Amino acid sequence: MSRYFIGIDVSTTASKALVIDEQGTVVASKSHPHDLSTPRPLWSEQDPENWWQAASASLREVMKQIPADQVAAVGLTGQMHGLTPLDKDGKPVRPAILWNDQRSGAQCAAITEKIGARRLYKLIGSILLPGFTAPKIMWVRQNEPDAYARIAHVLLPKDYVRYRLSGAFVADVADASGFGLMDIGTRAWNDELIAAYDIPRAWLPNLCESPDVCAYVSEEAAAQTGLKAGTPIVGGAGDQPAAAIGMGVVDEGMASLAIGTSGVAHAIAKRYAPEPDGRLHTFCGPMAGTWLHMGVMLSAAGGLRWVHDEFTPGQSYDDLNRMAESVPRGSLGLLFAPYLTGERNPHPDPFARGAFVGFTLRHGLAHLVRSAMEGIAYGMRDQLELLRSLGVNPAEAVVTGGAANSTVWRQLTTDIMGIPLYTINTNEGSAFGAAILAAVGAGAYPDVPAACAQMVRKVDVIQPDPAGVAEYARLYPAFQGLYPALKETYSALARFEGL
Ligand code: XUL
Repeated sequence: MSRYFIGIDVSTTASKALVIDEQGTVVASKSHPHDLSTPRPLWSEQDPENWWQAASASLREVMKQIPADQVAAVGLTGQMHGLTPLDKDGKPVRPAILWNDQRSGAQCAAITEKIGARRLYKLIGSILLPGFTAPKIMWVRQNEPDAYARIAHVLLPKDYVRYRLSGAFVADVADASGFGLMDIGTRAWNDELIAAYDIPRAWLPNLCESPDVCAYVSEEAAAQTGLKAGTPIVGGAGDQPAAAIGMGVVDEGMASLAIGTSGVAHAIAKRYAPEPDGRLHTFCGPMAGTWLHMGVMLSAAGGLRWVHDEFTPGQSYDDLNRMAESVPRGSLGLLFAPYLTGERNPHPDPFARGAFVGFTLRHGLAHLVRSAMEGIAYGMRDQLELLRSLGVNPAEAVVTGGAANSTVWRQLTTDIMGIPLYTINTNEGSAFGAAILAAVGAGAYPDVPAACAQMVRKVDVIQPDPAGVAEYARLYPAFQGLYPALKETYSALARFEGL
C-alpha cells in the first residue's frame, strides 16, 4: 500500500494542494487563486474565507485521485507575517493584513524606540518591518478599536487554514518568527515584547516545531475536503523555510539563491547568531536546533520581467538571452539598480527605486537586458555578503527560479557569486517542503535531511569562469556604491510623489 503526504501552500496568489509519495514523486497537484485587495495606498489585504475556499477546493480535487486512508499526514506552508485576527468563535474580525502591507511604519518605529534597536534585533533576529505581524496588531488597536475589542485569537495565513482543518490554534516556530514577538534564540514567545505591545498573551497560538504532529483533521473538515478525519497535521513552515527544505537546504554549509519574482538567499545555522544591525532575517529554522538566515531582495527576476514587458514586448525570453549573450561582461559599464519595488536587505528602504546608471551612445537594448541580469545577480551577491559577514561561507549554492533557467544568466550569476551554483530535480518549492515535513512527521523518514537526501537531487553544477569572476569583482564595488549614492534622490522622489 502506498503512503502519500500532502503539502498545502497558502500563497499570496493561490492555495495549492500537492501530493507526493515516499520517494518524493509528485502524484497530484491542484490550485485555486485568491483575490488581493488594496483598498488604500500601502494596504494589502485578503479575506481568510477565500484561503479556506481555495485550499479546500484544491484538496477535494487531489483527494479524487488518491484513497483518503493512504494519506499519512498533511503539512502546511504559506505567505508569512499576515495578521489574521479572529473573534472568540474563530470568525475573522476584519480582512487579513498581509506581509506586503506597509501601513504600520509608525508602530514599528515606536516599538524599536521602546525596546532599543540593538536589543530588539537580538530578540527578533531582524529589524522590525511593517510587514511583520505584531506592529499590525498595534495598528488595529490604534485605528480600529471596535475590531480590536472583538479579537480573541491571532493567526498566520496557513495557520488559519489549519484551524479550519482541525479547530486547533497552532503555529510552527519557523513561521511564527515573522510575528516579531518571539525570542528567536529560545524559540518561544517573549514576555518583554508582548508587554511592549500590550497584547494579551492568550491571543497567541501554541508553538510547535515544523515536522511535529500538532493537530488532526476534524470530522467537519473531512466532509469538506475528502481527507479522512483524524489524519495528522504537522506544524509546517512559512513559505521561505519550507522553500529551503524543498531545495534541500537543510544543514550548515548549504545555501540557496531563489531568484524568482523576489530573490531570497537562505542558509541554515545550528547556532543563533543574528546580524547585529538586523540587516538580514535570522528566524527559527524548520527543524529543531536550526536557524534560517534569509536575505530578501524584493524585486529580482521581477525586474527582468519588467524589462521584457516594457522594452522588448513581443520578444521571447530566448530572444532576451541571445541579446544578453551578444554583449560583453559588464555591459560596457552599464549598471542596473534592481530596487523596482523598494528594498528589504541590505537596504531596508520602501522608497528605493530602479536605475540604469552609465548609459552612453554605445549602449543599446541588448546592453540594457544584460545589465538587468547583472544588477539582479549583484543584488543576490549582496545577500551572500551578508551571510559571509556572519561567518556563513557556503562552498556552493543551489539556484532556482528565472536565473536558473537561462544559460547566460546562470553563468553570469555564478561568476558574480564566485562559487559553483547547482540546479535541482524539483521546482515545486514551498508546497514540496511542506509535504516533506509531513513525510517526516508521519515517520516515513527519521528526519528532514534524510528525507531530502532521498527526494532532492543535484542536476547541473555550473562552475565560475575565472575570467568572469575577476571582471565582475572589479565592477561589484561600483554596484555597491549605487544605493548610497542614490538614497537622497530616492527620498526626494518620494517627497515629490507625496509619500
Ligand atoms: C518572508 C516574506 C515573504 C512572504 C510572502 O519574510 O515576507 O516570503 O512570506 O511570500
